[in-house]
Amino acid sequence: MNRFWNENTRSLTPYVPGEQPKDKKLIKINTNESPYPPSPLVIERIRNADLNDLRLYPDPDSTPLKKAVAEFYGISEQEVFPGNGSDEVLALLFKAYFDASTPIAFPDITYSFYPVYSELYNVPYTRVPVKDDFSIDFNAYPSDVKAILFANPNAPTGLYIDRAEIEALLRRRPETLIILDEAYIDFGGESCVPLINSYDNLIVVQTLSKSRALAGMRIGLAFGAPSLMEGLDRVKNSFNSYTMDRLAIVAAEAAFQDKAYFEETCKKVIRTREWTKEAFKEMGVEVTDSQTNFLFASLPGVPGPQVQARLRQEGILVRNFKASRTENWLRISIGTDEEMKKLVEAVKKVMAGAAL
Ligand SMILES: Cc1ncc(COP(=O)(O)O)c(C=O)c1O
Repeated sequence: MNRFWNENTRSLTPYVPGEQPKDKKLIKINTNESPYPPSPLVIERIRNADLNDLRLYPDPDSTPLKKAVAEFYGISEQEVFPGNGSDEVLALLFKAYFDASTPIAFPDITYSFYPVYSELYNVPYTRVPVKDDFSIDFNAYPSDVKAILFANPNAPTGLYIDRAEIEALLRRRPETLIILDEAYIDFGGESCVPLINSYDNLIVVQTLSKSRALAGMRIGLAFGAPSLMEGLDRVKNSFNSYTMDRLAIVAAEAAFQDKAYFEETCKKVIRTREWTKEAFKEMGVEVTDSQTNFLFASLPGVPGPQVQARLRQEGILVRNFKASRTENWLRISIGTDEEMKKLVEAVKKVMAGAAL
């Protein structure tokens, strides 16, 4: 607390990021990063970049990046907006589209940055409870909200809603802005990016932090009708014209060009996820049908914080969310096969210990 803080700063409850440990020996499966390195093409392009050019400001429009993304999805460059991580894209989106006059809605269990941004920007919000099985019921959303915001697949539940259901929502609510956070879409889901040409009430947000292994580079994207993206540009250029640095532009362009590596690493993560899911089920661990690069799991009879602490003693970092409906659940990122085998053994040990 400082006496110069304004009212808003005083009242904030900031987002708490997952631990980034200094100890490299820990198995770090707590923040949904990729267990694999970025594409070799990304690394080669960064190595070959002219570092003397770092004295120059980057392209404020990130043109090569937009071009590569537009080509990948078969859309136009005007339908793509890049930002410094999807967290920043979401922040700009809140600033561009929401204010104190109209509420927005999102599920009670979802990415915990949404309420943080709502409070930062003084946007009233309604948290609509997900059902007991954690599924989202769109019929429960009030009709007077300006926007509905949700992650698909959702985080931390991992549950995926298919494109037909989202399309039905877009059609049913043409005056509601639907913001779809597809941070985990590449691990088994079907992206709604192709729908932006047909629905001017849709913005899709994605990140290169998960399926493209570039969390350390901070690159996120929004997709939508050109006038929706122009709104984001107006805010970006009133905040920081150069959100994407030179190396991030080079890295993102290469990541979208190396489709083969992207597909291969996503497949590997999916394969590891599925066998870990089965191993958990066989052991009696409750687990949702996650379509992401993490599992949402609960050990019967053992409180979530206790499991998290015990796994840490075993050298494994996972995430537990304190909110009442999720406190007995853990979000466990998919690591390499070897890391997940160690996880399964450690969970067996925790369960055996708890049974004593
Ligand atoms: C649902 C969701 N959206 C957005 C993000 C932010 O990703 P980044 O800012 O790294 O692009 C995350 C990160 O974990 C997430 O889980």
